[in-house]
Amino acid sequence: MFLLKTWRSTAFGIYGYMNFTKNGFLDHSKKFKPEDMQIQIQGKNCVVTGANSGIGYAAAEGLASRGATVYMVCRNKERGEEALSKIQNSTGNQNVYLEVCDLSSVNDIKSFASSFASKDVPVHVLVNNAGLLENKRTTTPEGFELNFAVNVLGTYTMTELMLPLLEKASPDSKVITVSSGGMYTSPLTTDLQFSGEKFDGVLQYARNKRIQVALTEKWAEKYKNKGIGFYSMHPGWAETPGVARSLPSFKESFSGKLRTSEEGADTVVWLALQPKEKLVSGAFYFDRAEAPKHLTLAGTSKSHDLIDSVIDTLHSMAALDP
Ligand SMILES: NC(=O)c1ccc[n+]([C@@H]2O[C@H](COP(=O)([O-])OP(=O)(O)OC[C@H]3O[C@@H](n4cnc5c(N)ncnc54)[C@H](OP(=O)(O)O)[C@@H]3O)[C@@H](O)[C@H]2O)c1
Repeated sequence: MFLLKTWRSTAFGIYGYMNFTKNGFLDHSKKFKPEDMQIQIQGKNCVVTGANSGIGYAAAEGLASRGATVYMVCRNKERGEEALSKIQNSTGNQNVYLEVCDLSSVNDIKSFASSFASKDVPVHVLVNNAGLLENKRTTTPEGFELNFAVNVLGTYTMTELMLPLLEKASPDSKVITVSSGGMYTSPLTTDLQFSGEKFDGVLQYARNKRIQVALTEKWAEKYKNKGIGFYSMHPGWAETPGVARSLPSFKESFSGKLRTSEEGADTVVWLALQPKEKLVSGAFYFDRAEAPKHLTLAGTSKSHDLIDSVIDTLHSMAALDP
């Protein structure tokens, strides 16, 4: 097991250094087609979580600049309002709205979902971007480990509760979940709240991001007749407030080599704009292309068999209707 873990970290480090940095983006962008991003999406409603900062902000701005109606879901009203007015000013699009919701709370997500549903707007694109890497083990007032609460349970609850509105926009609707290449270092595990061993925030984050990829795969299969496309993606390594806060030494050692938030959000916006026939539901994307979900010899692929049991647990934690 020690050798396997060492191999996963080494393979991830090498693959990441070659692909996830700014140089990787510049290299991959030689194959990008400019016309892919020239699509206008007036009249499409996009919900972006964690839209006041970093990659979420850049994604919301990128969608607003192409005419979408954007609902920015942020946990803090002041930060949300500031970001909202910046996006309205930079894009000239006034159809940008703030929704306040703490994604670490199932109850808050439920009240957001019920008040949002009363607007009766079809949701064409849901971007599950809100996320964090908290290095210390903290528990939410609802009793869940914080990384898990936001990255996994929040993403799960939000997506499940938005399904009726996504269905209203079908067959055009998409769910784009911002995962991370960090998931390459971990198989899927059923120890969702990291209670089985000494807490390691980086490993918990990797496990959470692996769950997002497996969840996306499962949603694509389970809801294939609903006309909704499900995609997970990796933004690459981008210099954001989140990285500065959670990984200060990583940020320092990669100084000048990290992507901008816009470069990180590029594939989110690309996925939102492309016709669904061009995309593979359930797939993992990176730099506008389908990417592997597992690194060679990393021994993580069989673990996806556990996703049904993970979903059962999430479903009962969120106390959703059967
Ligand atoms: N940057 C990278 O290199 C990188 C690499 C791989 C994956 N990602 C993923 O990209 C996504 C965005 O991260 P980022 O780097 O842009 O970090 P960021 O600048 O910290 O942005 C994270 C966003 O999520 C929000 N958020 C956190 N906890 C929340 C909660 N409880 N309820 C509602 N919103 C919450 C934050 O709100 P506040 O501003 O209020 O905290 C912020 O708007 C995350 O899912 C992250 O895992 C990033």
